[in-house]
Amino acid sequence: MSVEVKWPKYAWINGKIVEWDNAKIHVFSHGLHYGTGVFEGIRGYYDNGYIKIFRLEDHMKRLFKSAKIIHMQIPYKLDDLIKAVIDVVKANGFTNDIYIRPIAFRGLGSFGLRAQNPVDVAIIAVEFGKYLKKTGVRCTISSWRKPAADSFPIYAKVTGMYLLYHLASLEASMNGYDEAILLDSDGFVAEGSGENIFIVKDNTLITPPTYDAILEGITRDTVIKLAREELGLVVIERRIRREELYTADEAFFTGTAAEITPIIEVDGRPIGNGQVGTITEKIVKLYNDVVLGKIEKYRKWITEVKII
Ligand SMILES: Cc1ncc(COP(=O)(O)O)c(C=O)c1O
Repeated sequence: MSVEVKWPKYAWINGKIVEWDNAKIHVFSHGLHYGTGVFEGIRGYYDNGYIKIFRLEDHMKRLFKSAKIIHMQIPYKLDDLIKAVIDVVKANGFTNDIYIRPIAFRGLGSFGLRAQNPVDVAIIAVEFGKYLKKTGVRCTISSWRKPAADSFPIYAKVTGMYLLYHLASLEASMNGYDEAILLDSDGFVAEGSGENIFIVKDNTLITPPTYDAILEGITRDTVIKLAREELGLVVIERRIRREELYTADEAFFTGTAAEITPIIEVDGRPIGNGQVGTITEKIVKLYNDVVLGKIEKYRKWITEVKII
């Protein structure tokens, strides 16, 4: 799915807020050629003069974890980058929901694949509404598979990995579907092109485990906590067979961009009765309340930025 956005006024690059048109990198940046970059996707919700950024610190910690996995030293501290996110949000003075994209990648330095070039860091924020249809999506199992645990650092949110998701997502849309679901190298359900996946069976939530071929999603973690603590549901992390997905009572995606997106059909089979399920509906409502800080217990997850 491609998304129309209006470009913002400012971005943050290598320590400075610059005008959007000046947020540039060199054409021979290592990351552009070899995919040596790590990034995050974070949402901020506009509410009454504030942008409420959801789980900012957790996202930035994951950025550093991803960088460590690929031998990349980010030349800033965690707190510096958290402040940079806040600065770029303030500078743009957004009055709608936003998507924030911190990225660190190897830039210009020496020539060659193994070059450990200096790391450039940028933070981009754009106004951004819904990503996938909230009324539910029709999906297909992709012909592209997730690599095995020893074939790629799946745990890291690495730019190079997103060629796979680009191809899966494009293939799904070319074939008339809203989103792709990728299987792991053993043929079990892994995740969407930018989302984790849950199924509901007999009032129990089931989702693939983090030791499998998935990104350890922050929304996934949020949903597991909310389902257990607020809805009293049993959540099981285990592998899911493709047939279990086809025959689930309900299914949904979780992701920063996708938030909670109901899955209503997979490969021509309606999930449940082909409508948004009741447990999915409850989780959507709870999640929407939590990201806006309506539930005291979870306000710790929100960073408020006052828009002047
Ligand atoms: C491949 C993939 N899986 C899952 C997710 C969901 O992760 P999160 O909930 O942290 O956004 C994303 C999005 O970042 C992703 O790109």
